[in-house]
Amino acid sequence: MVERTAVYPGSYDPLTNGHIDIIERGLKLFDRIIVTALKNPSKTYLFSLEERIEIMNETFRGRKNIEIDYFEGLLADYLVRKNTFTVVRGLRAISDFEIEFQMALMNRTIKNDIETIFLVPSISYSFLSSKLVKEIYKFGGEIRSMVPDVVDRKLKEKYALK
Ligand code: PNS
Repeated sequence: MVERTAVYPGSYDPLTNGHIDIIERGLKLFDRIIVTALKNPSKTYLFSLEERIEIMNETFRGRKNIEIDYFEGLLADYLVRKNTFTVVRGLRAISDFEIEFQMALMNRTIKNDIETIFLVPSISYSFLSSKLVKEIYKFGGEIRSMVPDVVDRKLKEKYALK
């Protein structure tokens, strides 16, 4: 039987329950999901690539159908290296649509085999983003229901150091 694999790319700075929700939904359609974090040297992240990967490894430890990886440069080139041409992305709201539509078409322009599948998260995560999680945490808000435990712990460590 041919294994159906999809790639779920993102910044994952940090991983949220919204991402996890999309991964679990994706696994209803695919046998394996490769969750791959972008390494972009010209972007400032709160969590280093190593930390983002560590968070994902800890969250999905023992899950044989979830592979954690990273990529640098074009997603299309990464997909060619992985010989996997299906991309999964989450669509939270209409506002996500335009940029996602552009990215899907741009990826397909670069490599015609690339298909992008959009999954809709649970309504309770449709307002959630890594950016908002960081902002809420920074200003003393409660984020425990929005992220896996490891992220809550790492955020505490990070801000305690500052
Ligand atoms: O979590 P994000 O920040 O919305 O993820 C965006 C990501 C990483 C999927 C996107 O920026 C990306 O694929 N970057 C790699 C560069 C690339 O391939 N650009 C051309 C296609 S738009």
